[in-house]
Amino acid sequence: MHSHAAAVIYSSCTGNTRYLAENLAARFGLPLFAVKNAGDAPQDVPLVLGAWTRQGGPDGRMARFMSGLEGRDVFFFCTMASYTDSPHASRCLAKAQALLAEGDNRLLGHFFCQGRLSPTMLAHSRHPMTPERAERLNEADVDALTEAVRKAFAVFPGWI
Ligand SMILES: Cc1cc2nc3c(=O)[nH]c(=O)nc-3n(C[C@H](O)[C@H](O)[C@H](O)COP(=O)(O)O)c2cc1C
Repeated sequence: MHSHAAAVIYSSCTGNTRYLAENLAARFGLPLFAVKNAGDAPQDVPLVLGAWTRQGGPDGRMARFMSGLEGRDVFFFCTMASYTDSPHASRCLAKAQALLAEGDNRLLGHFFCQGRLSPTMLAHSRHPMTPERAERLNEADVDALTEAVRKAFAVFPGWI
């Protein structure tokens, strides 16, 4: 079997994280797994883990997967509606670090990406639509994922 430098495992509800994961996997020639198929991923390579943010941390599926990992090298990325340099993003990173620390995993690096909030989710959102929020969501809409993919490409080659 062809051996890879790493494997990409992602969790995604509305497609942002999947898009990023697919682009990373394609660009670096890495195998790609949805978290529900993570059992098929190789056991002996670093993992590139992609989550979406829910309640200020990695979504439940990815959080459970992360807390079950032992002794792995992990690069973590996360999409969110918040700004990626907000305190909210720092809290999300802290949660991811805590989950990975449970099993003595090593966090090799991370990046955050502002993901588009899907129109369906937006319609059901209970947060009030302030002008600030509208602007932030609009920014997330405009090529944010393309930009994130470009940034991710720049961050990656250093360690794979
Ligand atoms: C139920 C729900 C909860 C969310 N909670 C947060 C949150 O706490 N913080 C945040 O920044 N974004 C939050 N978001 C926005 C998503 O994290 C963001 O749109 C993400 O890019 C979705 O990724 P996906 O398209 O891969 O599912 C939430 C979205 C949903 C649907």
